[in-house]
Amino acid sequence: GKYKVFITRSDMPEGGVELLKKQCEVNIWKAPLPIPRTDLIKSVSGVNGIYCSLTEKIDAELLDAAGPGLKVVATISVGYDHIDVAECKKRGVKIGYTPDVLTDATAELTLALLLSTSRRLPEAIHEARTGGWVSWAPTWMTGPGLAGAIVGVVGFGRIGQAVAKRVKAFNTSQILYFNRSERPEAKEIGAVKVSFDELLMKSDFVICCAALTPDTKEMFNKSAFEKMKRTAIFVNTSRGGAVDQEALIEALQNGTIRAAGLDVTTPEPLPLDSPLFKLKNCVILPHIGSAAIEARATMSELTANNILGALNGTKMPAELQ
Ligand code: GLV
Ligand code: GLV
Repeated sequence: GKYKVFITRSDMPEGGVELLKKQCEVNIWKAPLPIPRTDLIKSVSGVNGIYCSLTEKIDAELLDAAGPGLKVVATISVGYDHIDVAECKKRGVKIGYTPDVLTDATAELTLALLLSTSRRLPEAIHEARTGGWVSWAPTWMTGPGLAGAIVGVVGFGRIGQAVAKRVKAFNTSQILYFNRSERPEAKEIGAVKVSFDELLMKSDFVICCAALTPDTKEMFNKSAFEKMKRTAIFVNTSRGGAVDQEALIEALQNGTIRAAGLDVTTPEPLPLDSPLFKLKNCVILPHIGSAAIEARATMSELTANNILGALNGTKMPAELQ
């Protein structure tokens, strides 16, 4: 019979869903929000492929619930910290993800967030709408400019490099990067590899683009924020887990750093009573890094083609090795 595929969300972009429906027996979770864990466990029983997103934890329990017929898990994300890669490998389950196709979208959002944070756009918009705009004023709503600044990019993969290229167009004085391995592409971009500490101490803007791994977990901790300039702007578009969020809250409250722009938090969604929402010097976005219309459409098709490649025994266009 046909291969069985389960899609974890009702609102996956249509292109990929249609591709799968042409060849497979497709079941889709019908409710609008992420599927509750107990329903997910039930729904994957006996399937050959799972099309998921970063809101679903793919672990040993889930893989066991799917059973031995499961050949592939494909996530509509470049991050795969929600997937237990070792447990998939142990069972011969292939993993698909979506590198490259969201790099531009995420880099664009990173720049938007960086400038929104440094130039205080949410605060300024609020003032304009609520009567705070009483006159043009020489020192009101000021924030640091990018021209002439030193920018540090932590995690110099596809997205980090794309961010660095865009940042350069703002006439920054220097781009530093920190990455476990040397990146040959850095030379052409004009970025210089330094230690994590040196990057923290020298940068006016610190941007986190590092994938979440045991190595990067909470690398932005109290000691890291203390090494940063008191005038520094911190931006995170990777994963909330790269940051010790309590330490960040303290750093923002105490003026250890000037401001932060976050597209990712712990947990997600960030609870409305989080102290982060009370801070004027923190701009929070609801994890929309890749939310360009074109990127999401392409991500969906790539996710479907990853599943079809694995099931048909042809090449997966983006298999996690
Ligand atoms: C989004 O965060 C992704 O990993 O694609
Ligand atoms: C990380 O920066 C990636 O694009 O995978």
